[in-house]
Amino acid sequence: MLSVVGLGKRHSGALRPLFSELRLAVGSGEVVALVGESGVGKSTLLNCIAGLEQADSGEIRIGPDALDMHRLDETARAALRAARIGFVFQAFHVLPTLTVAQNIAVPLLLNRAPPAEHGERVESLLRRVGLAGFGPRWPALLSGGELQRVAIARALVHRPALILADEPTGNLDPRTADEVLALLLERVREQQAGALIVTHSRHVAECCDRILTLTPDGLECAHPAGPSQGGRSHHPEPHGGEPTSPPALGRGLGGRVVQ
Ligand SMILES: Nc1ncnc2c1ncn2[C@@H]1O[C@H](COP(=O)(O)OP(=O)(O)O)[C@@H](O)[C@H]1O
Ligand SMILES: [Mg+2]
Repeated sequence: MLSVVGLGKRHSGALRPLFSELRLAVGSGEVVALVGESGVGKSTLLNCIAGLEQADSGEIRIGPDALDMHRLDETARAALRAARIGFVFQAFHVLPTLTVAQNIAVPLLLNRAPPAEHGERVESLLRRVGLAGFGPRWPALLSGGELQRVAIARALVHRPALILADEPTGNLDPRTADEVLALLLERVREQQAGALIVTHSRHVAECCDRILTLTPDGLECAHPAGPSQGGRSHHPEPHGGEPTSPPALGRGLGGRVVQ
């Protein structure tokens, strides 16, 4: 679903590149966690993959036919992004002048989905994220956690091939975070999409199939090492930095080994 090769990015004015020659892949039905210290470049990497920021070098191929995002002009890139990517922004970016239901329907409008389908798809997602009946409300009246769930529903509504999420559970209480994560995982499996999820939560990372750690020296890969099927074990030590133990293969949700 996603293949990144040789990706490099240096912000203008920065002394050294944030990353160079990055290589990563996310398979169909696979959920990959992206962790790393604050400021290491996780959001920039997600933005480059989504074509929201221009990378300096490399290939970014998305979807079954592996279209290269960075070989497209701005219009084609926006169309590709609208059709194939569901993005959950760190700061939500829910539009204040649209109702909750209208916000969630934006990707359907961009993709010209039949209007008759909008209501049902929006309502069913609102129920799944625990916001049944919130459709007519204005975003200004919602809490941070509720806005986060609206943003997640909006990222899923058009059934994208690739879900990019920047700390999607960062503003949620543990129970809601678990529900939202379960929804993301279920949708990815069901639609055979791929997902790359930036998180600071060890628990969230361990529910994924693989954990990628972004460091100033590049990406390191580990498999969640939880003892139980489903990788839902808790570890007391803080997350981030290099994996401290050798990777235990195939212990993520579904027990699959994906390189
Ligand atoms: N548009 C930009 N211009 C210049 N520097 C930026 C820009 N965006 C981010 N940075 C810098 O790049 C580094 C990585 O930022 P970011 O990708 O947000 O990291 P993370 O998401 O891992 O916390 C930070 O030092 C940040 O200040
Ligand atoms: Mg960030």
